[in-house]
Amino acid sequence: MKNDCEIFRLCQPISTYFTAIKGKILSILIDKVLLFPKREKMSDKTFTIGIMTSGGDSPGMNPCIRAVVRTANAYDAEVIGVVDGYEGLINGEFRPLGIRDVGGILQRGGTILQTQRSLRFHEKRYQREAIRNMNGAGMDGLIVIGGEGSLKGAHALAELGVKVVGVPASIDNDIWGTNMAIGVDTAMNTIMDAIDKLRDTASSHSRAFLIETMGRGCGYLAVMAGIVSGAEMVLIPEVPVSVDEVAKAVDDAYLRGKKHCIIIIAEGASIKAPELAKALEDMDVGFTTRVTILGHIQRGGSPTAFERMLATRLGVKAVEALLGGETNVMVGLQGRDIELIPLAEVTAKSRQANMDYYEMARTLAR
Ligand code: F6P
Repeated sequence: MKNDCEIFRLCQPISTYFTAIKGKILSILIDKVLLFPKREKMSDKTFTIGIMTSGGDSPGMNPCIRAVVRTANAYDAEVIGVVDGYEGLINGEFRPLGIRDVGGILQRGGTILQTQRSLRFHEKRYQREAIRNMNGAGMDGLIVIGGEGSLKGAHALAELGVKVVGVPASIDNDIWGTNMAIGVDTAMNTIMDAIDKLRDTASSHSRAFLIETMGRGCGYLAVMAGIVSGAEMVLIPEVPVSVDEVAKAVDDAYLRGKKHCIIIIAEGASIKAPELAKALEDMDVGFTTRVTILGHIQRGGSPTAFERMLATRLGVKAVEALLGGETNVMVGLQGRDIELIPLAEVTAKSRQANMDYYEMARTLAR
């Protein structure tokens, strides 16, 4: 005969199991019934798309918004703009976007929807709050235009059952799954233009210019700028170099008779421009040095023709994907085509600078 204690011990795992099941059912009920009640449609449009820009702005976001609104309209869907990225989703800051609302924005940098970096959205409770607001507004799906962090947010929402399509936008070009993100081409042209100007003054004064480009942990902008601007050296996070190696390159350029020395330093590189300038001055490398941090100027300006085309194609495809029943995917440029890539894959990896181009920049710097 088993005593009461033994019976309790034997039954405990079963009771824990049922408590867990009960908890699961309750949380599904909360998610599906309480959080997800959809409002009745206000118009006769069949599908309502929410659209937001998130994270750091990038030139080309506006042409993408325009493409989404007008493509949706062509498919008889309506669009609601979310103001201020995920913060606006949490706070329920929405505004309807009609075809006339996106007139005259094709050539404008920045984003008419405003953007923010939202720390709160990392938390599940705010994600649920956002879903509640989306449902209150009758949104059937969401298009998120943004960088790595924003696409992670999009993935989190999709995992909670929201229909989401991501659009890559970041001047850093560090997003996995697309050859180019929105903003990269315009930023590259801004950098090229700035370096062309800096070279004029560098040559006149026989100076070395240390120019810092953006890009976080990715050296893409620095490498490509190195090639298109003819830099003498490029420092990127992917390839650590010592101050002595840089000093030697500068010295060599001087001895080869160069009138200037342009060194592009990605913001994530192991050596920072101001400390390198100081070290070079102390080492007497032939050139006097000056530092230019390009900073946020790289994020502004009217999108280039390539940018407008890319942003437009991505926006059109995002709408078609969403209306076609796709979710948890990003639209990306692969080869010449716009393809769909699962957000799970996009958010698990990061793009780095292309090492072939890095070598090319080195070869040409002579
Ligand atoms: O991700 C784009 C980017 O411009 C990075 O290159 C840079 O490190 C960062 O954003 C700057 O962020 P913020 O505008 O928040 O200062």
